[in-house]
Amino acid sequence: MDRPIGMFDSGFGGLTVARAVIDLLPHEHLVYIGDTGRYPYGPRPLAEVRGFAHQLAWSLVKEFDVKAVVVACNTAAAAALHELESELPVPVIDVVAPGTRALVRATSTGRVGVIGTVGTITSGAYQREVASCDIDTTTAGAGGRAGVDVVLTAAACPGFVEFVERGQTSGPEIEILAERLLAPVKEADVDALLLGCTHYPYLAEVIAGVMGRQVALVNSADETAREVRDVLAARKLLRDAAAAAAEPAEHRFLSSGDISWFADLGGRLLGPELRDAEQWHHEIVHATVSEHRT
Ligand code: DGL
Repeated sequence: MDRPIGMFDSGFGGLTVARAVIDLLPHEHLVYIGDTGRYPYGPRPLAEVRGFAHQLAWSLVKEFDVKAVVVACNTAAAAALHELESELPVPVIDVVAPGTRALVRATSTGRVGVIGTVGTITSGAYQREVASCDIDTTTAGAGGRAGVDVVLTAAACPGFVEFVERGQTSGPEIEILAERLLAPVKEADVDALLLGCTHYPYLAEVIAGVMGRQVALVNSADETAREVRDVLAARKLLRDAAAAAAEPAEHRFLSSGDISWFADLGGRLLGPELRDAEQWHHEIVHATVSEHRT
């Protein structure tokens, strides 16, 4: 199955998920779109983010003929996941459910936290996901302790994404901001904290410095990559080694913003694959999407 996996985010954050997918599924072609021209999504109304998510997802389906769409952005998933799942002709995988599973597995005390954008946290997506998580939350603690109820504390971290998009992942400014924004999850004495925004793994050192080393930082990327593998395997959509030997996997990276910045910072965050980043024009897609949806 030579069609690529499609993936999108508001910018550089989804590259954390792309890294995990490339590492787990090295034979797969990948097309990644970072909507850097319109980031950040977090402070925008969810209806606006939903519109962006539709453009990106349909662009991946129609222009790139992807075999699955990975919504590598929590805010976009919070805004549009269910609609995308029911509208798109290919499987849709997001980061919210896999991240929640990883979080619930990681706790021993049952006191867990999630941090994300204002859009994600106020949408209640994680609060709902934890409540309906199919893992038995009374027995799921990774510490193996039975009878643990999971209590979630959620905190929005406005400003974190902007730091990452500017390429600033350490320093006193971000440390001061982190001290303030992480106060609710620190006060709740969580033992596991989900980075519920795909940009945040780039700030893991700062977040760990504030939270303390005893708190497990949970990243949704690896669990999401495993879900991509399982969904493709179940539908017999995985690309095999023989195909990859004949034609190595191609990884394409597109951005709606400044391409040289995308290639430069993306190259530092993900690796040399970003060198040949391409332009993505959302204005052109819009007409195609509207036409398809009516
Ligand atoms: N990476 C996006 C997420 O996971 C960031 C959203 C933004 O652009 O604010 O939510």
